[in-house]
Amino acid sequence: MARHLITSAIPYINGIKHLGNLVGSQLPADLYARYQRARGNEVMFLCATDEHGTPAELAAAKAGKPVDAYCAEMWEVQARLAEGFRLSFDHFGRSSSEQNKRLTQHFAKVLDAQGLIREVSETQMYSHADGRYLPDRYIEGTCPNCGFDSARGDQCDNCTKQLDPTDLINPRSAISGATDLEVRATKHLFLRQSTLRDTLDAWIDGQTGWPILTTSIAKKWLHDGDGLQDRGITRDLKWGIPAQFDGAPWSGMEGKVFYVWFDAPIEYIACAQEWVDAGKGGDWERWWRTDKGADDVRYVQFMGKDNVPFHTLGFPATLMGANYDGTEPWKMVDYIKSFNYLNYDGGQFSTSQGRGVFMDQALEILPADYWRWWLLSHAPESSD
Ligand code: 2FM
Ligand code: ZN
Repeated sequence: MARHLITSAIPYINGIKHLGNLVGSQLPADLYARYQRARGNEVMFLCATDEHGTPAELAAAKAGKPVDAYCAEMWEVQARLAEGFRLSFDHFGRSSSEQNKRLTQHFAKVLDAQGLIREVSETQMYSHADGRYLPDRYIEGTCPNCGFDSARGDQCDNCTKQLDPTDLINPRSAISGATDLEVRATKHLFLRQSTLRDTLDAWIDGQTGWPILTTSIAKKWLHDGDGLQDRGITRDLKWGIPAQFDGAPWSGMEGKVFYVWFDAPIEYIACAQEWVDAGKGGDWERWWRTDKGADDVRYVQFMGKDNVPFHTLGFPATLMGANYDGTEPWKMVDYIKSFNYLNYDGGQFSTSQGRGVFMDQALEILPADYWRWWLLSHAPESSD
């Protein structure tokens, strides 16, 4: 009996997901998990909510609730909707779990010990009107790559390019719309992804049969322009996993947290620990450590195309980097299934703009199986 580890991209906590999110990650992952179980194989199917970073803070502020209370409430809502759509997760975790906090801080410590973290003095946008820094989604503007006018400080949703807030043309605060922004110096931890560029490149070349959508996005960020850049893995935010070293203070990083895209994929592993701690199983390492039984696991990930750079480069860099000296062999993904966007009435679905059909509304209209069938038979595999 073969063993299959399956993860769906973990949805942001910032509201009820739309059918475009569902068809690009959780639903095809569920189909695949059910198929593998039906073949008699052993399956570990994991998903969670992605609770850190600016999406969570912004949504909680809009709802007028403390972020932790907002996240707890929205986790319940998302978990009930997942049940409504009959998504057969073995565990639906939370990236704000203690397990993820410990593991994320552990990875930071190990990466540092391997010489793969450096401190960088960089510039960030500070908003006088808001009295705070504006990292990632706190800032919007025009994409320097494609001209899309609602690009965010971390990524352009139109062309998938990863951005820094200072790259945006005509930047404005996503909180107040203020444009009186000042560029200020601040210090952050950077993961030396560029050191791993050739290793990542060879690893991707060694994969067979990956969808072109997956490999083309990965190759683009490996080779376009100056090639793969080191990325900041900390932020000037209050909500998140404290930027500490295995729980101990990290000099110069007081009051900062890890970047949501650093801790979110680590939750795939922490989720298996949550599964054990919830009494559902006895051993997470046989799924995640190749020195402890995971060498015969086949690991498949599901996600929308905007998530591909983080899963082909960022997360693999974390796992390979932690095993730089061969002492922590983590299970690497074997196949990355990515999807284009399902559009709605000629444009994109949008959670922030409330545009599209959302999971709760869908279940009020028709039973889950109708949606499951229609969505999966129209899954946007070859184009948007
Ligand atoms: O795009 C999203 O909804 C992200 N929250 C996906 C994160 S997937 C992962 F890496 F954890
Ligand atoms: Zn763009």
